[in-house]
Amino acid sequence: MALEQIIQDGEKYLMYNYKRLPVVFTSGKGCYLTDTEGNQYLDFLAGVAVNSLGHCPEAVVEALKDQLSKVMHVSNYFWIDTQVELAKLLVDNSFGDKAFFCNSGAEANEAAIKLARKHSYKKFGAQKNEIIAMKGSFHGRTLATLAVTDNKKYQEGYGPIPESFKFVPFNDIDALKAAITENTCAILLEPIQGEGGVTAAELQYLKAVKTLAVENNILLIFDEIQCGFARTGKLFAYENYGVAPDIMSLAKALGNGFPIGALITTDEIAASWQPGDHGTTFGGNPLACAAGVATMKEILEGKLWEKAESTGKYFQTKLQALVEKYEWVKQIKGMGLMLGLELTIDGAPIVEKAFEKKVIINCTAGKVLRFVPPLIVGEKEIDLLMNILTEIFEEISTNL
Ligand SMILES: Cc1ncc(COP(=O)(O)O)c(C=O)c1O
Repeated sequence: MALEQIIQDGEKYLMYNYKRLPVVFTSGKGCYLTDTEGNQYLDFLAGVAVNSLGHCPEAVVEALKDQLSKVMHVSNYFWIDTQVELAKLLVDNSFGDKAFFCNSGAEANEAAIKLARKHSYKKFGAQKNEIIAMKGSFHGRTLATLAVTDNKKYQEGYGPIPESFKFVPFNDIDALKAAITENTCAILLEPIQGEGGVTAAELQYLKAVKTLAVENNILLIFDEIQCGFARTGKLFAYENYGVAPDIMSLAKALGNGFPIGALITTDEIAASWQPGDHGTTFGGNPLACAAGVATMKEILEGKLWEKAESTGKYFQTKLQALVEKYEWVKQIKGMGLMLGLELTIDGAPIVEKAFEKKVIINCTAGKVLRFVPPLIVGEKEIDLLMNILTEIFEEISTNL
């Protein structure tokens, strides 16, 4: 179908809750996407930190094909081989002892909130239910995850929003200390905030958060949905800090594009859930977990976190040249291949200009260009992006 026809039909038949660019991608390989007209785009967004192995990596495609021909769905009334295999891979390579699977990031955080509350309820009673989240956070679009997402616009019109959630400034340990009460059940944060502007937790801050949590019988929940899976130079972002959470939520890159979410926790906390306490029809289904197993194996065998770190360093050197050259380019943010370039001007027009030049990037928090490419990206692709960015930045500078 021609591009115009797809867009016309889309406007007619789809709800208008996304602002979309006028393109339809019909295939992808590695760091590139191809549209209906045969144009190739360099992808530095990777479906928002999802396609970490690039588009259509052979290992994941083959694993999905193989699983498709066996069995797609059975239900959690039964043991599922690929689900057990994926749980083992996640547990063996993280702080956790147990995994739970769902279908998206929001669901993983919803499950994390429910588990933290249930654990507190069983151990300390119903009153210890408060959850402290961070300003600048993004945790999803279900009602409970909206309650911990610091964006009033996303909450507007959906009230009443679930209660007993509050926000404190990120990287401000005194504010956190002041917000803690005897009823605080959990602290929820992204070690590196994605939507909030690619803002990393400071090392001493995260260590102090852990200490506060332990001292006050508070569970620490890390949302690694965007920053997890080798993107920051370690398999999980918390490893950069030497601070393990009690509960961790995962999604995005876990299936390299096949929808899947997960929650990882310790044996002690996991024991708070008994059959019937939480569940989902599709969560951890054979197909999603086959994609997860293949993705995890590729990440582990290729030690992709090392590549994210070294390629990230090269990328940062190039970005630093922009910081030094243009006074309206403020600073580099993030770690590894989860990088932001903070500007003093609106980033949206740069994203549009890059798109016109067939490069996909994105902007968060208004002024931060965000780069979350496939982790297999090479210096060649970074150089290509930098050439385009330089052209755009030159043009902007002459018109400022
Ligand atoms: C840190 C973080 N948490 C949660 C979510 C929600 O994930 P999903 O869109 O899969 O529900 C996102 C999505 O961008 C995210 O970046």
